[in-house]
Amino acid sequence: MRPFWMILSIVSLLAGCGDKDDTATAAEADADTDADTDADTDADTAADTDADTDTDTDTDTDTDADYDAVQDIWDAQCIRCHADGGSASWLDLTEGTSYANIVDAPSNQHDTLDLIEPGSTKDSYLYGKLEGIQEGMGGTGNAMPPDKKFSGDDRQVIESWIMAGAPE
Ligand code: HEC
Repeated sequence: MRPFWMILSIVSLLAGCGDKDDTATAAEADADTDADTDADTDADTAADTDADTDTDTDTDTDTDADYDAVQDIWDAQCIRCHADGGSASWLDLTEGTSYANIVDAPSNQHDTLDLIEPGSTKDSYLYGKLEGIQEGMGGTGNAMPPDKKFSGDDRQVIESWIMAGAPE
């Protein structure tokens, strides 16, 4: 009987020790995995969101000197006369045609000035017509539009565009 009890107690001792070690190893491995995953995910997401916000700000700044804003003014206040079928169709201000007809293009009424001189409002005869100073510049005819005062806000849009080099 004696050898049997000795073997039994050695076997149960080994089995007990083996269980303890396995449990401890598994617990440590789990703890590490959880901590690493959480930390990385949070940090990356925050960094990406900041970068996107900066890009939006740049887009807004570019819009200020855009020819689209200028064409919107021609569409609303000029093309009922300055387009096919209008009283002044010889100066076409419709979208797609207007830019080439005014930027670095000579005036019909003024011997030496272009309608739009990039970088200079005082050398842009069209700008003088909007201000109503065409006769003082050596030109003729009415201020534009002829039947209504051109607003200061709209003049500011045209001035910013000319001074930015009249980009297309
Ligand atoms: C009611 C019709 C009418 C409207 C609206 C009108 N124009 Fe005119 N425009 C004319 C006529 C007619 C002439 C020629 C006689 C004159 O200068 O008064 C002319 C002449 C001009 C000239 C001179 C062109 C040259 O070659 O020297 C410019 C520049 C001009 N207009 C720009 C504009 C702009 C810009 C607008 C809008 C803000 C505008 N006009 C709105 C009828 C109009």
